[in-house]
Amino acid sequence: MQAEILIVGSLNMDFIVKVGSLPRGGETITGWGFTNLPGGKGANQACAVGRLDGVGRMVGCIGRDVHGEELLASLRAAGIHTNGVRATSAEATGSALITVERSGQNQIIVAAGANQCLEPGEVRQAIATAHPAFLLLQLEVPLATVEAAARQAKAQGAVVILDPAPSQPLSATLLQGIDILTPNESEACLLLGLDGITIELDETPRVARALLALGPRCVVLKLGATGVWLVDGNRSRHFPARRVEPVDVTAAGDCFNGALAVALAEGRNMEQAIRFANCAAALTVTRCGAQAS
Ligand code: RIB
Repeated sequence: MQAEILIVGSLNMDFIVKVGSLPRGGETITGWGFTNLPGGKGANQACAVGRLDGVGRMVGCIGRDVHGEELLASLRAAGIHTNGVRATSAEATGSALITVERSGQNQIIVAAGANQCLEPGEVRQAIATAHPAFLLLQLEVPLATVEAAARQAKAQGAVVILDPAPSQPLSATLLQGIDILTPNESEACLLLGLDGITIELDETPRVARALLALGPRCVVLKLGATGVWLVDGNRSRHFPARRVEPVDVTAAGDCFNGALAVALAEGRNMEQAIRFANCAAALTVTRCGAQAS
């Protein structure tokens, strides 16, 4: 039987509009193709796990509303266990306002809503009960909850994969408990105190090593269309991305993490898992939406 992957994180309804180019501050522009589709970094990772035939279980929080129901339905359709998703009356389901420009690049604003109600105790309990082999984390639920989940999973011997998105400073204790850290460039810069700086490709190995020095066992630095850079105790190497015509980059990183976990759960080694995840992420970029792609 395949190893179970537990995903602790956010579920958001994404409200998406397409534009020619992203607006500047204070500018009003006209867009087209408005739609709403299931998203949220946690749920997107879970959806990728399910669509790629992984055994996945989602732990999160939704509001008692129609968006929450749609998000549950999307995960169930992907084959994900959802009995760890709690509905609360305290907040509406999380939502994200997403603008996608012609080049496929996006801007995202998240209103956390019910995601902020996910508590440390319930994730500890869920992990203790499910005993997953892999835990997928991101940062759209309270940091105390992420820290509790990482600690519990580590104590049980699970592999902990953290996508440090959206960017925020993290404690040394959390980073030292992570097996695989998967930041993008801006998240990497923030973790290293280099905010506002652009990383050139020839600086990537140094940046990846500096991230490794923060405590995780392995770093997979996401470089968008350039691919990823892997660094751990034994190696430092580039894995180029598949070349595709981008339509919408939303959730490519989420899909990467879900696919990485599935490949590792199937017993593939890190290099094979990264190649597989690169292919899955490239496919999502060729289609609109988060879970839809
Ligand atoms: O990573 C993409 C996701 O970020 C979107 O689906 C949106 O909900 C935000 O969480």
